[in-house]
Amino acid sequence: MKATISRKGHFSAAHRLYNVHWDHNKNIEEFGKCAYVNYHGHNYKYIVSITGEINPKTGFVFSIQKLKNLIREEIDVLFDHKNINVDIEKFYDVNPTTENIVVFLWNQIKKKISSNLDLKITLYETENNFAEYDGS
Ligand code: NI
Repeated sequence: MKATISRKGHFSAAHRLYNVHWDHNKNIEEFGKCAYVNYHGHNYKYIVSITGEINPKTGFVFSIQKLKNLIREEIDVLFDHKNINVDIEKFYDVNPTTENIVVFLWNQIKKKISSNLDLKITLYETENNFAEYDGS
């Protein structure tokens, strides 16, 4: 019997979206306010969902306590109060869009959980804008 367990989290971080090959106007045209040169912050929110068989010994798909610690170590410590472009090596040359960040978060968690568990992460950059990734 399979079920999905989810935990929400949040971090505040700065970023700037731009393409080095484009001039300022083209960057503003494509990325809007997110292209402003001096960076800006977002209060990111996310939902980490793990799907798998319910372990009959524990009644758990995955320990929510372990998930809480995993999220803190692999997501919050890395991102909270950071400048994503400057502080996280992956984003030195990858645009820190919601899509690219959610894939990065997925990889951070995926490498720490059993391969027979399915993982899906939803990342909200704003209340209305969000991206999802499940590894497919
Ligand atoms: Ni932005």
